[in-house]
Amino acid sequence: MANSKYEYVKSFEVQDEVMFPNLIVARIGGRDFRRFSEVHEFVKPNDEVALNLMNSCAVSVLEEFPDIVFAYGYSDEYSFALKKTTRFYQRRASKIHSLIVSFFTSAYVTKWKEFFPHKELIYPPSFCARIISCASIGVLQAYLLWRQNDCHINNQHSTCIHELVKHGKTEREAQEFLKGTRKREKHDLLFEQFGINYEKLPVIVRQGSAILKTKVEDVVKYDNNGAPVKRLRRKAGIIHSKNIAGKNFWNEHVDLVKELGSFVDAIGKVEPDYIRSFQFEAQLLPSTWIVIRIDGCHFHRFSEVHEFVKPNDEQALKLMNSCAMAVLKEFQDIVFAYGVSDEYSFIVKKDSQFYQRRASDMVTVVVSFFTSIYVVHWKEFFPQKELKYLPSFDGRAVCYPSSEILRDYLAWRQVDCHINNQYNTCFWELVKSGKSKSEAQNYLKGTQAAEKNELLKQFGITDYNALPLMFRQGSSVFWDKIGRTHEESSQNIGGYYAHRLLRVSYANYHFVQWKFESFQVPSLLGQIGIPMPAIPMLVFIWKICGNFSILCQEGVSGFWVYNTLFSVIRKAYCIQENVVRIRGLDSIVPTGRSSLSKL
Ligand code: GTP
Ligand code: MG
Repeated sequence: MANSKYEYVKSFEVQDEVMFPNLIVARIGGRDFRRFSEVHEFVKPNDEVALNLMNSCAVSVLEEFPDIVFAYGYSDEYSFALKKTTRFYQRRASKIHSLIVSFFTSAYVTKWKEFFPHKELIYPPSFCARIISCASIGVLQAYLLWRQNDCHINNQHSTCIHELVKHGKTEREAQEFLKGTRKREKHDLLFEQFGINYEKLPVIVRQGSAILKTKVEDVVKYDNNGAPVKRLRRKAGIIHSKNIAGKNFWNEHVDLVKELGSFVDAIGKVEPDYIRSFQFEAQLLPSTWIVIRIDGCHFHRFSEVHEFVKPNDEQALKLMNSCAMAVLKEFQDIVFAYGVSDEYSFIVKKDSQFYQRRASDMVTVVVSFFTSIYVVHWKEFFPQKELKYLPSFDGRAVCYPSSEILRDYLAWRQVDCHINNQYNTCFWELVKSGKSKSEAQNYLKGTQAAEKNELLKQFGITDYNALPLMFRQGSSVFWDKIGRTHEESSQNIGGYYAHRLLRVSYANYHFVQWKFESFQVPSLLGQIGIPMPAIPMLVFIWKICGNFSILCQEGVSGFWVYNTLFSVIRKAYCIQENVVRIRGLDSIVPTGRSSLSKL
């Protein structure tokens, strides 16, 4: 398919391949699980059902991704180690951790009812993830020792806190009481004061859970005589071990040694420099727009299995939109989102300190939250369809240094939407008319937009532009109004301050931008006093561009905005310079007022 002139924005994507011979570990952790566990009344200090749910999700991850050969987890975290020779997604860090966290989240939400049949999921959980690259098997060994030590320390500490609180101390007093105590003292405290023999607590809470794959014989089918046909299959199983970083545990598992390497030495403590490297996370450039783009994993298959309408399934797209709306509501620093097909781009404001701009946290938490909502909302959009398998998304973050390039990014995605939709509409019409898929493909090879429009006319689609906007131009999500919260919407721009409301528009983008020496948007709009419906989209705009910009819905031409709005503004303000930029679907008018006449 044709490339658009905006393709250059792809060059801003950075390489994040984890090079050989580093071993790849992806660690996920619950986002604000303290609150999640309180709201869902998890048993304190350890809810074994919640731990079993985590384990079950981790088993699903190992079964889904053959390259993951080992996992270790406790509390709300899990680490997944990929085999040393993996080429999974070209070893790209953002792909790997976003997919794993997305799949894990999908599993968590889906399995919730199985583990907590009497508890509603009050709000959708989400997880963060990061990649830890281990330069050698020895470093992986240190990593596992670090995590299992942490499991032990945390569990002993929370057990003590829980007992102290149960016996009358406040949480704060309990924390004070334990300050500076060592493992031995906590052990004695539990035993002497509360009659708890720590060693007798369930292994799952003391040691965490390890998962590895073993070969098992499985019946795959029955032959004509009814005899079972068996095959060796690798199955993920949970085990508990006191020392997963020990030579004894590790080296006795042939598959682990083969896929990751053997442990050569026994280690007692972890080098502080190693811990620093395990904790390191790269930050995205300051003062740049961050776009987090997520994309459905293998949605070609997902849409087939779930019988999405071709080429566009309105319900599926609306489900995507509802997830994007939830993302904007959840993360205030995301100011705009644009979605098409199985992808969504989220724009994080330039000065955002969201997760201190740590790329992996930002991407994975958005992907995970989106996935969570997708699973939770599925029934609302497809009441008659079961989710046949777990959906997942991958994600990446890209920095754009200027609003011009950011707009080109959006234009790139929207042009792509247009090109794909026109192609797909033709393709499925050809298939409907009796051509095979490969015949339809060959037929369309090298055709231009005009030829495709002609072709559509033959199928009765006389006006391509009459197809729903959402199909042709994608969807945008943004805060409709910004200011003080108020319940009611208002009919005039003075009421612009009135409320925050989120809405989806399927509008074409054109950005109309003026530069002023200085001005305040709210006071400016207050003076104009144009009825709100006349300008249906005064949104995030100036935030995005720094200057005063308006995102116009389709049908609202830049020329119209110019005439009605600008003439009023002109009277009220001293305008140094005006630059008008219109970003349309495929017609770009770079700058200058004269070009407005073309609109
Ligand atoms: P990866 O993203 O690389 O994992 O592959 P993918 O299979 O998800 O393909 P890609 O993201 O390039 O394209 C999305 C695919 O999702 C489309 O090719 C369609 O097959 C499918 N899809 C998305 N939206 C719809 C829809 O509304 N209806 C139908 N029928 N299919 C859709
Ligand atoms: Mg996809």
